[in-house]
Amino acid sequence: MNIAILGAGAIGQLLAHQLAKAGAAPTLLLKAGKPCSASQSFGCLTPEGESLQTFSQCTLDAPASAFTHCRLLLVTLKAYQVLDALQALLPKLPLGCHILLLHNGLGPHSKLQPRLDGRGLSLGTTSQGALRLGPHQIRHTGKGLTQLGHFAGPALADNDKALLLRAIPGSEWLADILPALWGKLAVNAAINPLTALDDVPNGRLAEAAYQPTIDAIIHELVQVAAKEGLQLQAHALLKRVRDVIELTADNSSSMRQDLLHGRPSEIDAINGYLVQLAQRHGLELPINQKLTRQIKQREAAL
Ligand code: PAF
Repeated sequence: MNIAILGAGAIGQLLAHQLAKAGAAPTLLLKAGKPCSASQSFGCLTPEGESLQTFSQCTLDAPASAFTHCRLLLVTLKAYQVLDALQALLPKLPLGCHILLLHNGLGPHSKLQPRLDGRGLSLGTTSQGALRLGPHQIRHTGKGLTQLGHFAGPALADNDKALLLRAIPGSEWLADILPALWGKLAVNAAINPLTALDDVPNGRLAEAAYQPTIDAIIHELVQVAAKEGLQLQAHALLKRVRDVIELTADNSSSMRQDLLHGRPSEIDAINGYLVQLAQRHGLELPINQKLTRQIKQREAAL
């Protein structure tokens, strides 16, 4: 195992297919105790047809010896699963293993940083679309930008950086990843809770009635970002939110889907993350607080 992917959901499988096409042999890491064969064929449907790849599989409770050669770990879990999963895995990962987190929202990165023991940490965000059709089959539903960048510890080795950029179409490596992640956070903070609470597709947020709330979400985000030392422009973020609403008009946001399927949402890493940061700075974020509370009430009622 040289490259492992923790989180075999739609995005994890998509990245596995893309890495395999670029000549790598990623291993999929599954939940501890999950019965799995050592290798498994996975399908990826695209408009051009289905491509089949065989990936090695291994569970999180495999012995440390299984991870001896792991030099890159891509984590494609939901934000709220990241810390628990890594807590179990970190002691088994070689100190030279670089970790790349790819999830909606922010927060796990700063809690993970003090536990890295000198390992490198990169962060990323992807707008590629993928849908899980079954345990071993996905549909690649949309092309999109993938932004990656270094966050802490030793930098990712140049050959692995080049591999990721070659493998993932539309990917770029940024010298400063945090502004990009805040840009995506703005999109998720505006779109996800509103579509989930009103049970509407993303496109409905183009209606005039939603604009004051979207405006307020983004202005509050800009305020807290400034306290964190990031100067973001509300008008640019609002344009980006409007563009995503238009481009993904028929999509059902991940938070809407989470609630519809009775799963926990990523609210703590999105609007809840903003509220938590604001509290540290003595700031009030009334709209983000209200949305966080409402989503948590929905989750509790599931
Ligand atoms: O979380 C999501 O659903 C997506 O990140 C986005 C961009 C809001 C589109 O639905």
